[in-house]
Parts: sequence; structure tokens; C-alpha cells
Amino acid sequence: MAFQTIITEQQADILIITINRPDQLNALNGQTIEELNKALALADVNKSVRCIILTGAGEKAFVAGADIKEFAQFTVEEGGMLAARGQKLLFDFVEHMSKPVIAAVNGFALGGGLELAMSAHFRVASDNAKMGLPEVTLGVIPGYGGTQRLAQLVGKGKAMEMIVSAAMITASEGLEWGLVNYVVPQSELMAKCVELATKICKNSPTAIAAAIRSVNAGYKEGQDGFATEINEFGKCFGNGDFKEGTTAFLEKRKATFTGNCAAWLSRSSTNRGTRFRIMKRANRQAWICALICLNLLFCIRSNDCSSPLDCISHCHLVMKLKFVRAAVWPINMVSRCSIHPAPSMPIIAAKSRYCSSIMVMRHLPFKTASASHKW
Ligand code: COA
Repeated sequence: MAFQTIITEQQADILIITINRPDQLNALNGQTIEELNKALALADVNKSVRCIILTGAGEKAFVAGADIKEFAQFTVEEGGMLAARGQKLLFDFVEHMSKPVIAAVNGFALGGGLELAMSAHFRVASDNAKMGLPEVTLGVIPGYGGTQRLAQLVGKGKAMEMIVSAAMITASEGLEWGLVNYVVPQSELMAKCVELATKICKNSPTAIAAAIRSVNAGYKEGQDGFATEINEFGKCFGNGDFKEGTTAFLEKRKATFTGNCAAWLSRSSTNRGTRFRIMKRANRQAWICALICLNLLFCIRSNDCSSPLDCISHCHLVMKLKFVRAAVWPINMVSRCSIHPAPSMPIIAAKSRYCSSIMVMRHLPFKTASASHKW
């Protein structure tokens, strides 16, 4: 997608979004807010993006605030709309992204700029950064969540002082106050953020999304953060990432997370009662195969995979775990779901709207039968 006020660049699993109005110190106008919303919304559903870095173009400013030139003549109604729309499209949106957003604060972060940095999940500042909420010098107050998020991050007293005095603080003060997590020389800012993002990208995307939801819940009125945590914690046990993470630990290898959740496939396969009931049927091999095949199709349909291969490899992982050395390959020749008879190696072929696959199972814990089943 072509943008006029921002630049997006993907480096491996990391998306770098740069607000690109350096001659206006990257001030946020309506167009920039809309473009940021679009880029972030795309990143949120793009499985190849696992972490986002937000920064400003040039060496002087991250963002010097909302665009004063744009709102100087606004009425009361327009002022209210400006804050409501901005919070919805950008500031709340960033906070509730399912992927971590790091603000790389490369200079002035004032007004809406600091509010944007604060809506990110955490902040890294360059040593020349200056941060503040100077709105009261314009006869207005912070309107993009600044009165709330600053108090959450640095405490009520410091937030009050910063807001009513409109004073800017330095990067090192920001570090001391807990407003930023790291301060680095400006030349090292992006490298530091990429290093942090790379570390994040190795972890489970589903667990990270659950962690963000849980932490955020504690700051939302009407939500119980502890109850959310219990609920999210429990849900993790149904995720493919959890199976992969725990199995990798036990097998003393590094986990490869896909961010998929093919939970019920592995659950149904571990249900010995179900499995043996099915096996009692005359053509038990065929029925087991059919069950797995249906599970596979369900996985493909329900996992919102960005590519069929992604899903297939995920199924492969789960199968490997639970179906004793099964293998899955994509194939383009199968027109419908069918099970092919084979003396010692039953093959399942499946075709869905999204992809086709063929599966060969080995070493099943029961006698193989010559079987065929079509539907
Ligand atoms: N909105 C619109 N334009 C802005 C802006 C903002 N928030 N912040 C900076 N700019 C523009 C300036 O108008 C100027 O544009 P121009 O050359 O067309 O006049 C350009 O960016 C450079 O800014 P300038 O003020 O000349 O740079 P400086 O180094 O002298 O000062 C700041 C830097 C950040 C101290 C100063 O620009 C400033 O105070 N900006 C406003 C900060 C603010 O109040 N933010 C909260 C808004 S709610």
C-alpha cells in the first residue's frame, strides 16, 4: 500500500514504521493518523510481522505533537471529535495491537508525540530525546490519552507536574522515571530496537498476544486484570504454540513457533477413549484416517494461515507430536478428500479451499488394514 506521510519497511519479522514529515517535525495530522492506522491494521493480521517499531524521520523529532496548524481553528465539537477519532484510530489501536509495538523515540516527543510513544508497549529513547506534554501552553490539554497513560507510567505526582508545568524532561530523566526502558546514543537507536524486537520474535506470538491483553486489562475500567490473566493462561494450553514450546523444552531443542492454534486436533488425538472407540469399527484404519484428515481440514480453515504452507507445517508439528511420526506435504494433484489403501503406509489426501495436502502415517499403534474411504 502506498503511503504519503509514513514509510513502512519490513526486516525479517519486524515492521519498521517511520512517520515521515521531518520538515514539520513529524507532527500528526489527520492523514498521518489514518495512514498509521492502516499500516498497523495490516501488520496486525500479517503473520509474517511479529513486532513493530515506530519512529520518526530525521534526527530532530520522533513526533512534535498533533498538527497545531490543522486544529488551530477548530470548534468545541471539532476538538472533541479530534480527540475521539485519534484515540480510536491510533492511540488505543496501538495499545491493543496483538503484536508488541516499540517506540524508538529519536528526538522531540511532545504532546501527541509523547502520547503515541506512551501508547506503544514500551519505549527506547536516543540520548537527545526530549519528552513532554506542552498542551497547556496552547490553552488545551492532552487529548490522546496523555493524562491517563503518563500517570500510569510515571505516577500521578510526576505526571501532574509534567502536564501543568508543560516542562520537557530529558532521556535520562525519562529512564529514571520509568517512562523509557533504555537510553542509547542516537546512532544506535534503531539497532537497539531491532535487537529487542528480534528477541521478541523468537517467542510465541499467541502467548505474546495473550500477555498484552492481560496486562492491558489491568488498566481498563470494568475489567479485572487478574481474571483476564487466568482466562488467557488457561487458553494458552489449547494452543499449538504451547504444545511446541513444552515439547521443544522436553526434547532439549529450540522451539519454532508458528502462532497457530490447532488445539483441538491434538486434544482429540490424545483422547484415547475416542481413538479406541473409533478403532473398534470394522474399517478402523479408514476412520482414523478420516478423522485426522477432517482435523487437518479444520486446522487449515480455522487458523487464518497467511499461507497454506504455514498451516501445513503447523499441522505437521502437531501430527509429529501426537500421531507418532506422521508427515504432511502439500500436493496439488488431489481433487478431493480421500484415503488411499496402502499395505503399511496409509495415505490421506485432502483438498480444501485453501490448499491441498497429502499425509503419510507411519508406525501407527494398531494393525494397518487395507482400507479406502471416499466422501
Ligand atoms: N504542529 C504543527 N507544526 C509543527 C509542530 C506541531 N506540533 N511542531 C513543529 N512544527 C513545525 C513548525 O511550525 C515548523 O514549521 P514551519 O517551518 O513551516 O514554520 C517546523 O515544524 C519546525 O519547527 P520549529 O518550531 O521551527 O523548530 P524549533 O527547533 O525551533 O522548535 C519545537 C522545536 C519542538 C520546540 C517546536 O517546534 C514546538 O514547540 N513545537 C510544538 C510542540 C507542541 O506544542 N506540541 C503539542 C501540540 S498539541
